Amino acid sequence: MTITRTLVRGVGGYLPQRILTNQELEKTVDTSHEWIVQRTGIEQRHVAAEGEFTSDLATHAAKRALASAKMSIEDIDLIIVATTTPDLTFPATAALVQNKLGMSHGIAFDMQAVCSGFVYAMATADSYLKNGLAKRALVIGAETATRILDWEDRTTCVLFGDGAGAVVVEAVQLDEGAPEQGILASRLRSDGTQWEKLYTDGGVSTTGTNGHVRMQGKEVFRHAVGMITDVVDGVLADAGYTADQLDWFVPHQANRRIIDGAGKKVGIPPEKVIITVNKHANTSAASVPMALNEAVADGRIKPGDLVMLEAMGGGFTWGATLIRWTD
Ligand code: UT7
Repeated sequence: MTITRTLVRGVGGYLPQRILTNQELEKTVDTSHEWIVQRTGIEQRHVAAEGEFTSDLATHAAKRALASAKMSIEDIDLIIVATTTPDLTFPATAALVQNKLGMSHGIAFDMQAVCSGFVYAMATADSYLKNGLAKRALVIGAETATRILDWEDRTTCVLFGDGAGAVVVEAVQLDEGAPEQGILASRLRSDGTQWEKLYTDGGVSTTGTNGHVRMQGKEVFRHAVGMITDVVDGVLADAGYTADQLDWFVPHQANRRIIDGAGKKVGIPPEKVIITVNKHANTSAASVPMALNEAVADGRIKPGDLVMLEAMGGGFTWGATLIRWTD
C-alpha cells in the first residue's frame, strides 16, 4: 500500500526594488514612524514600479521557485495564483503567468481569499495533487496591494506593501510506514457575515472601479488571534502534534502584535516565529510564501523540520497548513 503526499520541492520570492520608508510616508500623511512601528512593527514596504504588474512579481518568484526545485516549466501542470490585485478582471493572473513562463499545457487559475489566499491555495493544490488532477504545482501568492490603497487614509495606507512568493509542490507515492513528509494537514475557514470589517469600497459589478481598502482595524485585530489559534490548534490536533513539537511558525505578516499574540496563545516561543512584517509590511497573499522563502534561503528552515503556515484576512477568511519540510 502507498499513500499520496504533497511534498515541497522549491521556494522563491521577489520584492520590487523601490522601498518606501515610514519616514517618507510622514511627509505625505499625518503619521509618524514611531506610531507605525509601535502599533504594527512595520518599518518599510516595497512598492511595484510603474508598468510592473502582479503577474510580473509572480513570474519572478515562480522562476526562482522552479530554479530551487531544479525543475523547468515543462514539469509543472498546475499554477494557482493567490491574489486580490489581479492584472486584469480576466483572464486570471495565473493565465498571464502561464503566458510569461511559456506554458500552454496544464491548469491555471486564481484564488481569491485575500490575505489567506496562499494558505487556501496550498490546501487546494494539495487536494488537486492527491486527487490526481495534477502532478506538480506552482503555488504563488502575489500582490500589488499598494494599488488599492487610499493614500490619504492613514489608517490603511501605512499598512500594506507589494511582493510575491512561490513554492513548487509535487505529488509523491510513499510506502506506508515511510518517514512522514510533505503537507500533513490543513484547515480552512471563512465567515462572510464579517465582510464589512475589511473590504474594498468598489468592484467590477458594483462601482466599475477597483475601490480602496477599508478596514475597521480594531475589529479585525479583536478577532485575529482567536481565529488564528483556532485553525492552528485544529491542524496540530488533526496531525497528532502539539505546539512544542513545531520547529517553525510562519504566520501571515499583517501586524507584529497579532503575530506575537497568536504565537503566545498557541504556545510557540518567539525564536521559532518567522518575522518579515518589519521589512515587507502586509503583502496580503504574498506574505506567507515570502516569509517562508526568506527562512529557507537563510538556512533556518531545513529538511525534516515541522513548519506551520497560517493566515487570516478579509472575508473573514483564515486557515493553517502543517508541513514536514522536504525542500
Ligand atoms: O491581514 C489582515 C488585515 N489587517 C490587519 O490585521 C490589521 C488589524 N488591525 C490592526 O493592525 C490595528 O487595528 C491598526 C494597526 C490598524 C490600528 O492600531 P490600533 O491600535 O487599533 O489603533 P486605532 O485604530 O485604535 O487608532 C488609535 C489612534 C486613533 O486616534 P484617536 O482616535 O485615538 O485620536 C487613530 O486615528 O491612532 C490614530 N491613527 C494613526 N495615527 C498615526 C490611526 N492610524 C494612524 C497612523 N498614524 N497611520
